[in-house]
Amino acid sequence: MQPAESVNYIPEQAEILDTKNFTENEKFFRIRLKSEKCLGHIPGQFVELSIPGIGEAPISLCSSPTEKDFFEVCIRKTGNVTNAIHKLKTGDTIGIRGPFGNGFPVERLTQKNIIIVGGGLGVVPLRSLINYISDNRLDYKNIYLLFGTKTPGSLLFYDEFVKKADKHTTYMNIVDYPDKGWTGRVGVITTLIPEVDINFREAYSVIVGPPIMYKFVIRELVSYGMPKEHIFLSLERRMKCGLGKCGHCQMHNLFTCQDGPVFDYAQLENIKGAI
Ligand SMILES: Cc1cc2nc3c(=O)[nH]c(=O)nc-3n(C[C@H](O)[C@H](O)[C@H](O)COP(=O)(O)OP(=O)(O)OC[C@H]3O[C@@H](n4cnc5c(N)ncnc54)[C@H](O)[C@@H]3O)c2cc1C
Ligand code: FES
Repeated sequence: MQPAESVNYIPEQAEILDTKNFTENEKFFRIRLKSEKCLGHIPGQFVELSIPGIGEAPISLCSSPTEKDFFEVCIRKTGNVTNAIHKLKTGDTIGIRGPFGNGFPVERLTQKNIIIVGGGLGVVPLRSLINYISDNRLDYKNIYLLFGTKTPGSLLFYDEFVKKADKHTTYMNIVDYPDKGWTGRVGVITTLIPEVDINFREAYSVIVGPPIMYKFVIRELVSYGMPKEHIFLSLERRMKCGLGKCGHCQMHNLFTCQDGPVFDYAQLENIKGAI
């Protein structure tokens, strides 16, 4: 994590190199700092993206830090800032501060079996971790990618993840509401966990998704014997400064923007309202 003092409070200018409409509401952006400096992030960190006169929004990085010439984000339209960012095109300029937060514990996960669980837009920060593991494959054991969405149309990065499946990488997805063409699994994401055939006591898990999902996924992992300290999750809170100064993201004695957004379950289980 970068100490707050070393981070510029003023947004740096960046250029949009490419965009793709994933769904009606989710758009993908490839961006490069105009200074051509490498962003130098850790998977699981986020940036504050800004448009002058409109505002700033915290957005997770979805590319691996092994991509040095650009970084990528995927943004869902929800309000003022995200709607304005959706209108930007290739060649346009956007402001950026960061990267912020602690990120996923990539060192602690080395030489471990890892169950990666993503719900809805949670797949966005997880893609950074998954691509990082792919680019450093010998440093990690088997990985299990378990993803759930409401509908088949909202499965982001589907083609990319399917291609990663091999002897050491298992990809499973499940939807709540199938359409006519869907031949895959239907139901809640927790039903995928019993299909993972590993020693849960020694494995680790990284979970990102809607708060309701955390409760049930954690309960299932713990029931299979996974230690609470092996379960990592990323929390979404209202954030403004990203620097531990404004207090918007404060949760008891923790600042989600600086101490998190990634925490292990042992850190959170006794904090009321954390999950
Ligand atoms: C660490 C972090 C990483 C994030 N990563 C991504 C990402 O990769 N892609 C993405 O699309 N979004 C991400 N978000 C959510 C994103 O920051 C908000 O959707 C955005 O700030 C909304 O700004 P707005 O001005 O467009 O909407 P506003 O007009 O501010 O709000 C529109 C609606 O969104 C809700 N909202 C606003 N901020 C948040 C928030 N932080 N959490 C939950 N609901 C919120 C409001 O209650 C309101 O209903 C992330 C948030 C955090 C804290
Ligand atoms: S966003 Fe300001 S303290 Fe965390």
